[in-house]
Amino acid sequence: MLHDPNKVYVFDTTLRDGEQVPGCQLTTPEKIEIAKELESLGVDIIEAGFPISSPGDFQSVVELSKAVSQPIICALTRANKGDIDSAVAALQHAKRPRIHTGIGSSDMHIKHKFNSTREEILARAVDAVKYAKKFVEDIEFYAEDAGRADINFLATMVEAVIAAGATVVNIPDTNGYCLPDQYGSKIKFLKDHVQNIDQAIISVHCHNDLGLATANSIAGLQNGARQIEGTINGIGERAGNTSIEEVVMILKTHKELGLHTNINTKNFYELSRMVSSQMRMPVQPNKAIVGSNAFAHSSGIHQDGFLKNRENYEIIRPEDVGFPDASIVLTARSGRHALKFHLERLGFALNKEELAKAYHRFLTIADRKLDINDEDLTAMMSETLSDKRLA
Ligand code: KIV
Ligand code: ZN
Repeated sequence: MLHDPNKVYVFDTTLRDGEQVPGCQLTTPEKIEIAKELESLGVDIIEAGFPISSPGDFQSVVELSKAVSQPIICALTRANKGDIDSAVAALQHAKRPRIHTGIGSSDMHIKHKFNSTREEILARAVDAVKYAKKFVEDIEFYAEDAGRADINFLATMVEAVIAAGATVVNIPDTNGYCLPDQYGSKIKFLKDHVQNIDQAIISVHCHNDLGLATANSIAGLQNGARQIEGTINGIGERAGNTSIEEVVMILKTHKELGLHTNINTKNFYELSRMVSSQMRMPVQPNKAIVGSNAFAHSSGIHQDGFLKNRENYEIIRPEDVGFPDASIVLTARSGRHALKFHLERLGFALNKEELAKAYHRFLTIADRKLDINDEDLTAMMSETLSDKRLA
């Protein structure tokens, strides 16, 4: 397999792990609309669903396979023939199909979910990969709960599934348990100790239970993983999955990492809004990259610094993620510089003394009203201009 060693493949699971969230279920036409936007965004793989889980999910994978041509279309299965048969049937129209099969890898899952042993689980993993490989060339294997798995057993499992034909090995931190250095070390251990690891791509799939999904994904990439799995807006089970927009913008911002993706980052904001409205899942205002406050400057000190040179307080340009523009929000914490900026924008050019008086009046209003808009400023200025004190 010849891969650009610095390319990171982006695997979107908004329509599978994201859609599992209660209340986020989508119809097939809604999924197609999002999938087309994901294609324009430039994701490499779309996980379209879990076909055995319901007739509706099966049909969505069928329709998405027809509607989208550039990205690989992936279907999830458990490690059994019935699931794999269903995925094969659902992917029949996909130009580039992938089956994503797997099983638990931690002792917790082996004993308390499967009531089984490491040996039996290993055999089931290998059998599933071999069976899926009869139908589809591109097989991704997930070692569920790898974040809590014994590292030597995980390495044995990864080596065995690659030997059985897996082209991608997914190391999920299913419960969002790991610290970044622990997760990074796991990936490094696999890189260093799994003899056939160069025959597969290592994928990171992190959950956000401790708010570490993005940090863990980056740690995985820094240690040799080359596929990142996540969702738009970080939606997903419990506290969610890794936010694709966060990981991609970290790689773009920190050029020293030497990694790149195919993503058209300018599409992020619009897609974020689409996913939010279709899935009825509001984006928190302070969400990195796509939150409504992500480019809003509100304190006087920041506004002053931003107006002198926006790079004082802006490490990402809003236009790079399709965000309308940075904003200088006027509140009682704003300074004169911010007020002057907005008044000039509205056509009011004031000298120093006039500005001082207008600012005084502005603070009185801002203490009563949480944020001040253009209409408030215009009303304030018409009163102020007719006021003899300013003349
Ligand atoms: O979190 C997880 O382990 C998963 C797997 C099914 C890939 O979503
Ligand atoms: Zn997951």
